[in-house]
Amino acid sequence: MPAIDKVLTVDEMMRLARRRVPKMFFEYADSGSYTEGTYRENESDFSKIKLNQKVAVNLEGRNLKVTMLGKDIAMPVAIAPAATGGMQTADGEIKAARAAAKAGIPFTLSTMSVCSIEDVAENTTAPFWFQLYVMRDRDFIYRLIDRAKAARCPALVLTMDLQILGQRHKDIRNGLSTPPKFTPYSVWQMMQHPLWCMRMLGTKRHTFRNIVGHVSGDHDLASLSAWTASQFDPTLNWSDVRWIKERFGGPVIVKGVLDADDAQAAVDNGADAVVVSNHGGRQLDGAPSTIRVLPEIVDRVGKRTEVYLDSGIRSGQDVIKALAYGAKSTFIGRPMLYGLGAGGEEGVTRVLEIIRRELDTTMALCGERDVRNVGLHNIYSNDIPARNAPMVQ
Ligand SMILES: Cc1cc2nc3c(=O)[nH]c(=O)nc-3n(C[C@H](O)[C@H](O)[C@H](O)COP(=O)(O)O)c2cc1C
Repeated sequence: MPAIDKVLTVDEMMRLARRRVPKMFFEYADSGSYTEGTYRENESDFSKIKLNQKVAVNLEGRNLKVTMLGKDIAMPVAIAPAATGGMQTADGEIKAARAAAKAGIPFTLSTMSVCSIEDVAENTTAPFWFQLYVMRDRDFIYRLIDRAKAARCPALVLTMDLQILGQRHKDIRNGLSTPPKFTPYSVWQMMQHPLWCMRMLGTKRHTFRNIVGHVSGDHDLASLSAWTASQFDPTLNWSDVRWIKERFGGPVIVKGVLDADDAQAAVDNGADAVVVSNHGGRQLDGAPSTIRVLPEIVDRVGKRTEVYLDSGIRSGQDVIKALAYGAKSTFIGRPMLYGLGAGGEEGVTRVLEIIRRELDTTMALCGERDVRNVGLHNIYSNDIPARNAPMVQ
């Protein structure tokens, strides 16, 4: 079992997290919907892209800095919103936010986080972004947006691809819930991880703290998951982007776009940036990988807005490939969760170091000194079929 600072890849970090986190929470992160086909393809499609090596280029003074929404960030990677970071390890979201701040990149806090907006704001110094799920209880949503404003979140990430929850078989089989239900099976899973249990006993943060105490009605812990699942608003549509943006009064990043028409609709309705995302393969199983659809979306809206990509980024090479196809920056979800599970703040810091080094080395071996110059010329070939490619007869 390597120490955190000996871990060399995100995949190794994932294996370490598997050993250290109770099965139901580890598998909550390491799962996709239905067959998990899209989840797998997000990663495997990156490996179908080959990079173009260049030599005899002066590689001194390399730059990895880019901007997102006009702000300088240390490398083209941000932390994606991920529910239950605080179940991978105690106070997970606070730890991930601190690691992101140290690395000089944005951290996005999920609506469905364990640590609340206020918890993160009180325990960190750098500004962080807030991700919004629109729920039927609009009063709650108005207050949630106001709370993000009060915490001085500089941007809102509006997730559009979860009006209906994709089914993840592992969660059903594991009887997953947040807060954890104490069934014999779940207690048995937790008892396999005494260190995890001890840390959890040392924090008061065990439930969806953005929600508990902020919604009307009496919700005991057991009814909370059911309430939440019934609250995702199936009527969410493009016209909602405008009032959300108006209420927030700052930039809104629309997340969950896989189609060029949708990207255009997002921008037409006021989005300040879009994230090409399939929710890490957790929603529409059978949807294409994000790297596959990125070029057509960049082609349609790339001149009008910033286009980011998530889903499947596991290395600095993947980041370079996303940039080469036109993404301005990327987000990582599971790599951050694996870092938390394996080693808390130190684990996330290590994940970011790994990706940063891979990014720097890969960029250099492609003959680039500045990440902002990465483009299609850095791609050698791509075996990913195009949209509507004819079926082989
Ligand atoms: C365990 C888990 C929880 C997630 N929770 C949220 C969430 O609360 N809000 C959201 O917009 N996206 C959520 N996502 C999706 C991520 O923001 C992101 O789109 C996805 O993780 C990117 O894929 P990757 O994990 O392959 O990097 C979640 C993803 C995972 C794996």
